[in-house]
Amino acid sequence: MSEAPPSELTKALLGWYDRHRRVLPWRALPGERVDPYRVWLSEIMLQQTTVAAVVPYFEAFVERWPTIDALAAAELDQVLRAWAGLGYYGRARNLHRCARLVSLSGGGFPDDETALRALPGIGPYTAAAIAAIAFGRPAPVVDGNVERVSSRLFAVTDPLPAARTALTSLVSALVPPDRPGDFAQAAMDLGATVCTPRNPACVLCPWSASCAGRLQGIAATLPRKREKPPRPTRHGIVFWITRRDGTVLLRRRPEKGLLGGMMEFPSTPWREGAWTLVEAAAEAPLFLDWRLLPGEVRHGFTHFQLNLSVAVGGATPRQHARGVWARLDRLEAHALPTLMRKVARHALKKAY
Ligand code: ADE
Repeated sequence: MSEAPPSELTKALLGWYDRHRRVLPWRALPGERVDPYRVWLSEIMLQQTTVAAVVPYFEAFVERWPTIDALAAAELDQVLRAWAGLGYYGRARNLHRCARLVSLSGGGFPDDETALRALPGIGPYTAAAIAAIAFGRPAPVVDGNVERVSSRLFAVTDPLPAARTALTSLVSALVPPDRPGDFAQAAMDLGATVCTPRNPACVLCPWSASCAGRLQGIAATLPRKREKPPRPTRHGIVFWITRRDGTVLLRRRPEKGLLGGMMEFPSTPWREGAWTLVEAAAEAPLFLDWRLLPGEVRHGFTHFQLNLSVAVGGATPRQHARGVWARLDRLEAHALPTLMRKVARHALKKAY
């Protein structure tokens, strides 16, 4: 089978990558073999999360669980705790399920996109990334960075997400059969460091001479995006219930759904209308004399903005509620999700 030689564009990008690649803990050094376990772990962590946020978590995970078998042998709860703060906790559950399936199969990770996609937590993008980076498959890997770079290079003005299919086939034509993983990561690095959303550094770009977006003077306006409807705002009141022994009530969220299985301070449901304290008190786990703290905790989820007020109440040891009484000076031990850490910070600042 004859293969087309790499285009000048491909060569220019790989040459740039050889000089300017970011050193990241899941990447092999030139000449080293990559470990599919590390590639998979990094790609799951990097879904919806920045490289800067992922690096310390990645390092802690591979230190504690250096192989897929080690991760498969961990308890789900340990994995959820180690994941706390990274967000999108469904990823941690799928990570653990996937580790158990792959470990049980005994044959390591499958090495093609179709089989990878059958595993929990691996969608089309992640399957392409693992196939290219870990197994040298010539898959086009189009994340947000690559959408930006390629829409500029080819001056694609159709808005995302509809333009993604066209961008994927344009990128596909550039993927070199001998270095598909490097090409994928080179395009990501170019997007992250040079072809940035605002003020792209075109003078540093290996593609600037051919970049149709730059030549037409529209690079910084690309990619165009379909207007998103504004995120709705939901409201809730959190119950900060303390006892005189220096403890506060925590409970576990249901396994399914947002922040599934993570610990939280009890609260009303989160709904679109604001709550009055009287209404909220009917939802509280204990009948107490509530005091509403000034201010709000704000947190952005993908599909809605959440504004939480905090109501403080004191409980006696005789009052029983479902959950655990956690020591206020040991809250870190409970691996709270970011939202609940914000609530704790707010309550500790305003209540005392
Ligand atoms: N984002 C997603 N995957 C990545 C990778 N392998 N390197 C850098 N950024 C990424």
